[in-house]
Amino acid sequence: MNGWIKVGTRSELLPGEFKVVWDGDTPIAVYNIDGALYAVEDVCTHDGGDLAGGDVHGFEVECPRHGARFDLRTGAVTKPPAYEPIASFPVHEENDVIWTRDDR
Ligand code: FES
Repeated sequence: MNGWIKVGTRSELLPGEFKVVWDGDTPIAVYNIDGALYAVEDVCTHDGGDLAGGDVHGFEVECPRHGARFDLRTGAVTKPPAYEPIASFPVHEENDVIWTRDDR
C-alpha cells in the first residue's frame, strides 16, 4: 500500500464512528456510515474549523463552529455558511485493514 495511510481495522472504526489520520500536512477524517466508509479533508472551507466531532446527520457532517454541512460521500456543501466543497479521498480495504490517502 505504497503512498496510502493506514486508518486501522474494521473493528476500530465501527458504524457511527470516525477516525482522523494525517497524510503529510493533510488531516483526513474517515467515517463509517452504516458500514460504508468515506474519507474527507478535515478542514471546513468556511473558516478552517475541524469537521471531525461535528454532528453527523445521515450522510452529512455539520461543522461545530458555524453549522455548515458537507456531504461525506462527495464533499459537496449542503448548507452555508460554507460555499466551497471539501476534498474527498479514496478509501481502500484489504485484509480487514482500511487505508486512505490524499490523492490530489
Ligand atoms: S468554520 Fe465551519 S462553518 Fe465556519
